[in-house]
Amino acid sequence: MATLQAIKYSPGKLEVLDQLRLPHVFRYDDVKTCEEAFDCIRSMRVRGAPAIAIVAVLGLAVELQTTQLQASTVEDTIAHIDQRLDYLKESRPTAVDLANSITLLKGLVRAHAQKSSDAEPRDIVAAYVAGAEEYMNRDLQTNLAIGDNGAAWLRDVAGASADKPISVLTHCNTGSLATSGHGTALGIIRSLQSSGVLRHAFCTETRPYNQGSRLTAFELVHEGIPATLVTDSMAAALFATRGKEENIAAVIVGADRVVANGDTANKIGTYALAVLAKYHGIKFVVAAPRTSIDLLTAEGKDITIEQRKGEEVTQVTGPVVGSDGKVDERIVARVATADQRIGVWNPAFDVTPHELIDAIVTEAGVVVKDGEGRFDLSKVKSA
Ligand code: MRU
Repeated sequence: MATLQAIKYSPGKLEVLDQLRLPHVFRYDDVKTCEEAFDCIRSMRVRGAPAIAIVAVLGLAVELQTTQLQASTVEDTIAHIDQRLDYLKESRPTAVDLANSITLLKGLVRAHAQKSSDAEPRDIVAAYVAGAEEYMNRDLQTNLAIGDNGAAWLRDVAGASADKPISVLTHCNTGSLATSGHGTALGIIRSLQSSGVLRHAFCTETRPYNQGSRLTAFELVHEGIPATLVTDSMAAALFATRGKEENIAAVIVGADRVVANGDTANKIGTYALAVLAKYHGIKFVVAAPRTSIDLLTAEGKDITIEQRKGEEVTQVTGPVVGSDGKVDERIVARVATADQRIGVWNPAFDVTPHELIDAIVTEAGVVVKDGEGRFDLSKVKSA
């Protein structure tokens, strides 16, 4: 079974899977410039915190590899890279991976210039490209480690075993499609499954953009993981009526930004699931690579939440289903699901207070709260 790949890169070529067409059509778009990378991210043809950052930094890498550099000095080259990265940073505001990757690469080219006093503009470009490639490669290792760490923690804390497998619920899409591969929260689910301790995975539809039904359901089916799709509003009833029989032990979600006190911005609807998990005595686990941690922001109330277009709530787009029940991917229709004159509030993310989070799983280990209910993320961030 081929692994799903949202981002394909080889030197000078970046291809990004158009996630708006999934799961019905598999089409990769060439991304040759920063403008194309920006548009791909803004239009959500690629989405998910790690994937956004990878497409941004590799978009610039490809542009630098395939266009004539105008800068004639090292200083001008660095200024040019800064300016292109600053532009890309504006594509989506909430996921901190984008800002963190940009800070990292800006630092890397400066360090290269300082280290080699005889560096030329092309050496700075080469250092940038190598840094961007390394950023993508490291993400896969990160996800595999998150998967293992999270699965080990759930075996310990929730008693998951082959004799007593657990079920989990996840929200939005945090899998191969949101990362360079494997996934974060979905990576934990994959690791539970491969170690034989997963009974069942439930995924939410994730209104209004349906990342859960369009993407996570597809990934779960593709991986052969026993799974069931529910709408967001069914989670409470699921926990209340089937929680015991299914042994639902955890809600596992990803993160767009985990701030210093552990408050976590993630896809709208995450906060509601955390409240429900607390009420039903189900563990609430955030899976976050260190690139999603923002220690410069103290509390969740300071996170900028992206507001998106009202049409995402009042319309749906997808291929039509014929009278024979078959999906015809050649005919895509946009359908109104509400009176188009209604006012709409459409925040793309919400903030789950750290009080409701049991564990933050990173590639460097699992962080839990101390006796006073505080997360200390500084150790994993600098590990
Ligand atoms: O709006 P999206 O689809 O980019 O939102 C994605 C999420 O909220 C994910 O849970 C988060 O980015 C983590 S992806 C590993």
